[in-house]
Amino acid sequence: MAVSTDELLRARIEELEAELQKRAREAAQKERQLERYAADLRETFKEERSRSQELRRSYMLTVRALASAVEARDAYTGRHAERVAAYGLRLADAYGMRLGDEPQIEFGFLLHDAGKVAVPDAILFKPGPLTAAERLVMEQHPVTGSEIVRDIDFLGAARHVIRSHHERWDGAGYPDRLRGEEIPISARVFAVADTLDALTTNRPYRRASTIAQARLLIMQDAGAHFDPEVVDAFRELPDAIIERIRLEIG
Ligand SMILES: [Fe+2]
Repeated sequence: MAVSTDELLRARIEELEAELQKRAREAAQKERQLERYAADLRETFKEERSRSQELRRSYMLTVRALASAVEARDAYTGRHAERVAAYGLRLADAYGMRLGDEPQIEFGFLLHDAGKVAVPDAILFKPGPLTAAERLVMEQHPVTGSEIVRDIDFLGAARHVIRSHHERWDGAGYPDRLRGEEIPISARVFAVADTLDALTTNRPYRRASTIAQARLLIMQDAGAHFDPEVVDAFRELPDAIIERIRLEIG
């Protein structure tokens, strides 16, 4: 018996509807699968973030422990490294450095004098002026420090601060006699922060300067010891911030 065109069409429509329903079921299944993947990814990302925060916290604690070990020998500087790190971060911010890209810079501020572990007490604590030979030993500490941290990947850019924190803008610093912009910017920022802390802290041989006196001395040394642009950024740093760091990290 001949099949009518209508029946043929109806059969085709049913076929197509069945096919459509099948595709819709498959699409819904895929969507559910994708949602599961997305949820898994979100979970993994969250775990990864908390792991990396935990790791960074551990790095920071390790660096602080190391910095304290270095400072424990030197009773009069107190928490110098912590204060310098705090000044340095504010100054780097005022200068417009993108610190987020190089979080290791703070580690460098904290560990700048790590190499002093290799300087004998007789030289480190000598009350009078150093002989030429003693000065050579003393001036090795940035080299020793950068060697100590050489293979520690997470310290990365911290090494620049450790190696170059005694360089001077005019080229008269050490150990590499770098000049101007040859000196890594993190070390140029550090130099100002370090001097600010040295001047505003009591030492056995002199009383602490006021912030105003310290500002004047640092400004006078712009272009000689310090990068003039970093000094400009330092001028923008309010007294209140410096005072708060001094009080909080006494
Ligand atoms: Fe130093």
